Amino acid sequence: MKQMHITETVLRDAQQSLIATRMPFEDFEAVLDEMDQAGYHSIECWGGATFDSCLRYLNEDPWERLRKIKAHMKNTKLQMLLRGQNLLGYHHYSDDTVRRFVRKSVENGMDIIRIFDALNDMRNIQVAVDECRKAGGHAQGCICYTISPIHNLEMFVSLGMQIEEMGCHSLCIKDMAGIMSPKECFDLVTALRENIQLPIYVHTHATTGLGYMTYLKAAEAGAAGIDCATSCFSGGTSQPATESVVYALSQLGYHCGVDAQKLNRINNFFLPVKDKFSENGMFDPYVLSTKTDALIYQIPGGMLSNLVAQLKAQNAIDRLEEVLDETPRVRAELGYPPLVTPLSQMVGVQATVNVLLGERYKSIGKEIKSYIRGEYGKAPGTIDAGLAQSVLGDEKPMTGRYAETLPAEYEEAKAHLGDRARCEEDVLSYIAFPQQAEQFFARRERTFTASYSFKEVG
Ligand code: CO
Repeated sequence: MKQMHITETVLRDAQQSLIATRMPFEDFEAVLDEMDQAGYHSIECWGGATFDSCLRYLNEDPWERLRKIKAHMKNTKLQMLLRGQNLLGYHHYSDDTVRRFVRKSVENGMDIIRIFDALNDMRNIQVAVDECRKAGGHAQGCICYTISPIHNLEMFVSLGMQIEEMGCHSLCIKDMAGIMSPKECFDLVTALRENIQLPIYVHTHATTGLGYMTYLKAAEAGAAGIDCATSCFSGGTSQPATESVVYALSQLGYHCGVDAQKLNRINNFFLPVKDKFSENGMFDPYVLSTKTDALIYQIPGGMLSNLVAQLKAQNAIDRLEEVLDETPRVRAELGYPPLVTPLSQMVGVQATVNVLLGERYKSIGKEIKSYIRGEYGKAPGTIDAGLAQSVLGDEKPMTGRYAETLPAEYEEAKAHLGDRARCEEDVLSYIAFPQQAEQFFARRERTFTASYSFKEVG
């Protein structure tokens, strides 16, 4: 019988895509035992924006959340998303920090670490992959899926071979914008399977409406697994629905390993959770509508809404068409970076500035300059010579790994925190999100003092 692994994303990507990652632990604690029994291959529950959100909005220690989830998981693997050398933040960290963070993630209960680099520069995932393996975790290397004149099957297969060579246990095709069509998916999974041995997992979003069809073709091409979200947290910018995908695939002879009754109970559990977020305004039904713009402009839906918001803020929404024409030009001149965080924002802002100032590259963003200097890694294609010259002058772009130029952050951070850090995990939280972590530690200290003095009085 054909197998299909199901990864449930409600605790990470689905809630990140629909309710800005605002689900506190207490909202889902009571369903964890049931989820552990459902038969998922894995539960994606950590990494991505969850770490930042725990510290910034939910007053939760992200490491403690991980340990508490793990305590319920006797049968099911936990999975997280990691931005390679960026970890869970937006800039590169030293190798020492990356290794400590990955090791602590595994020690606190993480099983599968899905690791990607926004530019598909595999040097930027190598350290995290290596440490994950050494710590006993399952390292899943990602190809960020994008469409451009230089991103073809040959390039993707070559990336897949690099992922295999560096010792990853599996490979994920990460289609963050939901723009991979059923045919493209079938061809890509097939080409990868012809050239590498690793199991192939496919990750997409329902944003453009292609997701369900894409998963069907992924199955036909022999993908090992797909990512789905329990139905009330599925669709739109989230993943296709777990129950529906499993229903369809089961009839076609795929064994998904999950129990339909249990999936139903899990969804029933999350229904009132979702209602709560509808009532408090965090869940906006707009994110559920199918948006096909991304298929025309070849830019992710989230990026398009950012462009619209930027232009509205500048009172220049009438320039949208020009910005949409300029965006692919800027992207081409930058060597076709995949439009994923942070490159999607960088390209969008530069295109907007180019249009609004009436002269291209009159002002060049700080991050774009760092990118051209090579500090984000190697561009997939060639950066426009004139643009490179205007930024670099006589300077040579970096050819090695940027992280090698970065000093280790750990000892200094530890000394800075002093007693406020209770463990290595605290120091790592601080390195990842300094301001949010310090505020979290201060709140934690106050709570502790308050309960302590209460005991003395009582
Ligand atoms: Co995603």
